Amino acid sequence: MRAHLRTILATIGVGAGAAFVAAAMAIYAGAYNVAADDTHWGLTLSVLETARTRSIQVRAAGIKVPTDLDDPAKLAMGVEHFAAHCAVCHGAPGVPRGEIAKGMYPAPPDLAHAASRYSDAELFWILKHGIKMTGMPSWADHGDDELWATVAFLKKSGMSATAYGELVKDNLMHGMQHHPRGEAMPGMSHGEAVPPAADAPHRPNPR
Ligand code: HEC
Repeated sequence: MRAHLRTILATIGVGAGAAFVAAAMAIYAGAYNVAADDTHWGLTLSVLETARTRSIQVRAAGIKVPTDLDDPAKLAMGVEHFAAHCAVCHGAPGVPRGEIAKGMYPAPPDLAHAASRYSDAELFWILKHGIKMTGMPSWADHGDDELWATVAFLKKSGMSATAYGELVKDNLMHGMQHHPRGEAMPGMSHGEAVPPAADAPHRPNPR
C-alpha cells in the first residue's frame, strides 16, 4: 500500500516537473505574445480576473469608509479630480474615452457601474494602489481626501452628462484647485478665477 502511494506521488512530481520545464521553454522561446493587440486566452483571463478580484477584496477588507461621502462638496471635488485625471482613459458622462485609451489592453472600462461591482472600500483601494500590468495607475500621491471624493463621484453612477458638465464648469470657474465648491485656495479669492467661455466644451482639463 505504502509503495503504491509512493509511486503515485513520484508520478505527480515528475509530471509537475515536466510541465514546469515545458512552460519555461515555451516562455524562453518567445511563444507567449505580450502584444497589446493580441487578446488573452480564456484560461489566462479567468486566472487574472480571479487574482485581481480576490486581491482587491482581501486588501480592502480593513479599510474604514468616511461617513461624509454624500456631502455635495465632496462630490464637486471628486468630479474635478475625475475630470482632470481619469476621464482621459475611462471617459465620463457625455465624454468619450481619450485617444490613449483606444490602444490599451485591457481597455479602461466605463466606470458608470463600477460602484455596483465594488464596495466603497474596494474602489478606494483600486484608486490608491492601481492595478499591476493593466495601465491603471496608483494615485497614492493624491492624498486620501481626494481619493475618497473621487469614490463619492463613482457612486453617482446615474449622473447625467448635463449634471457632470455643470460640475466641471463650476470647478473651472473656481480655478480647478481640487477643492470643494466654495472653498478657495489660501490666498485666492473667488473673483480671481477667469470663467470659461459660455460655449466651452465640457471636456476634462488635460492639466
Ligand atoms: C492610463 C489610463 C488610466 C487612467 C488615467 C486611469 N485608469 Fe482606471 N483603469 C485603467 C485600466 C486599463 C483599468 C482596467 C484594469 C483591469 O482590467 O484590471 C482600470 C480600472 C479601473 C477601475 C476598476 C474598474 C472595474 O470595473 O474593474 C476603477 C474603479 C478605476 N480604474 C478608476 C480610475 C480612477 C478614479 C482614475 C482617476 C483617478 C483612473 N481610474 C485613471 C486605466 C486608467
